[in-house]
Amino acid sequence: MVSDNMPSFTDLPPGVVMSARRFGFDEAALQRFDAALLPAALAGAALKRRLEFLAGRDCARDALRRAGYDGNAPLAIGDDRAPQWPAGWVGAITHSHGLALAAVAPAARQCGLGIDVEPWVDAARADRLRAQVGSDSEWQRAPAGSSDAEWFITVFSMKESLFKALYPQVRRYFGFHDAEVVAASADAATLRLTTTLSDACPQSAEYTLRIARSDGFVLSLCAVPAGG
Ligand SMILES: CC(C)(COP(=O)(O)OP(=O)(O)OC[C@H]1O[C@@H](n2cnc3c(N)ncnc32)[C@H](O)[C@@H]1OP(=O)(O)O)[C@@H](O)C(=O)NCCC(=O)NCCS
Repeated sequence: MVSDNMPSFTDLPPGVVMSARRFGFDEAALQRFDAALLPAALAGAALKRRLEFLAGRDCARDALRRAGYDGNAPLAIGDDRAPQWPAGWVGAITHSHGLALAAVAPAARQCGLGIDVEPWVDAARADRLRAQVGSDSEWQRAPAGSSDAEWFITVFSMKESLFKALYPQVRRYFGFHDAEVVAASADAATLRLTTTLSDACPQSAEYTLRIARSDGFVLSLCAVPAGG
């Protein structure tokens, strides 16, 4: 059983607004969301998938409104599942174990945003997946007080956040070894690209990510400043 204690950041990068929801997995939970947020393509999807999609879109709509966006059209599903944000806005969505979050910002302030929430994993799972996600030098950068399993899932989450933040520029899949952690503290880390992904994302480009923790989850945020 994953604790539903919500991780959150004490401060956010310029222009970034976040929204979060907890949701259940029964039919009644569906009624709490605006059905208009669900595209026809997902009408026949499993209940769990419809709920997590709706919760993510509900967070995105709330964050956009609070950030000053006055449109109301539901966010379509774009290439490779990336949400299609309104013109002039960037954002990201994540959901896990009945928790959904979205982050948005005006494109004038941030040119890419990624967030990812993951439940803590046990040591056996971390050991099994470690080589797929990072290299020995990255595992040695675990900040003081972070167990090996906690650091594993934190690095995993940061790389997924980086993927979501860069995907709209790169427009293609890239893997966990295309970036590496080169510095880390308890609440932030720097990831460096090991390969060139696009003109705007060359090898050795560095990105700073924020990290938040709760009893049940780790949350990471990657904000790529506009013009930075
Ligand atoms: C796409 C991916 C990052 C999603 O992460 P996840 O942990 O499976 O799921 P999350 O709940 O955190 O995020 C899901 C949301 O991500 C968003 N998303 C999916 N594909 C995306 C993409 N290509 N670009 C940006 N956002 C995307 C969607 O909003 C999705 O929710 P929705 O389908 O309900 O709208 C993951 O499935 C993946 O493919 N990872 C491999 C690529 C990677 O991380 N490389 C590491 C590079 S260093």
